[in-house]
Amino acid sequence: MPERLITHLRHVDIAVPDFARQLEFYTSVWGLTQVGGDSGVAFLAAEGSPEQYVLRLREGDKRLDLIAFGAQNPPHVDARAQRLTSAGVKLVSEPGALATLGGGYGFRFFDVDGRTVEVSSDVAFREHRPIEEKEAIPVRLSHVVLNSTDIDATRDWYAKHLDFRLSDSLGGVMHFMRCNPRHHSFAVARGPHVSVHHISFEMRGLEEYMRGTGRVKRSGARFVWGPGRHLAGDNTFSYFLDPHGNTVEYTTELEELDEDSWHPHIYDMRDPTVQDQWGTANPMSELVAKESFNDEDPGLFQAPPL
Ligand SMILES: [Fe+2]
Repeated sequence: MPERLITHLRHVDIAVPDFARQLEFYTSVWGLTQVGGDSGVAFLAAEGSPEQYVLRLREGDKRLDLIAFGAQNPPHVDARAQRLTSAGVKLVSEPGALATLGGGYGFRFFDVDGRTVEVSSDVAFREHRPIEEKEAIPVRLSHVVLNSTDIDATRDWYAKHLDFRLSDSLGGVMHFMRCNPRHHSFAVARGPHVSVHHISFEMRGLEEYMRGTGRVKRSGARFVWGPGRHLAGDNTFSYFLDPHGNTVEYTTELEELDEDSWHPHIYDMRDPTVQDQWGTANPMSELVAKESFNDEDPGLFQAPPL
């Protein structure tokens, strides 16, 4: 088993102009819990997750502020920073104490497409609880998928600099990458520009995933695609748009791989059973695919304000 300096996906931070509306959606409809914040900033936790927060909202022009990954310990953080610097990757901040909820030790840098990424360790765990049967709120963050114009270049960069491994691909369209045995914590999708493709939240199980899907549908949120079960990752999917047009997903039962024996597949997206093994989702089409192109991100190679 390769030594991994990145352990997991911690949180995704986004900025939006209508902060109040966005906060209302993610707390009242999507099922996250506000655990902190200030004027124009909110930290949202998933009740079942030990992460301090899984989503940070900030009031401002719409952009992706940050993707945060965990590392095992400060020496791993330092080693990562050193390796990135030696490879010519631009750091946004040097390793040091973090001022965000839960503290910890970390640093930030720009990825190949200009997104701001953080790697940190030693963040205090949040007191969390088991999600109960039929409780249709997210257990934790599952994965984040990003649009890139050159998905092979983004895949190669994450493999080279952050040790992500390729789990599967949808030929020419998407690469699924892992940093632990979960099939994917990160994926890159082919898009017309760099932007967020979707942010995915793990539900307790099928019952809770379906109940959550129904609740969000009834809220009037735009339902993009689902309910169904993908072939790559074997996870279920229901995709919605948040009030600012970011795609968000409820998922469950994402596959855990035997990493010693796993070989990546290249699936053909035109095969309907690749998209949805169940056959229950609305058919994928160019129009459906475009829903997740999102707006071009204006924050590339610009560190977000704290
Ligand atoms: Fe997903």
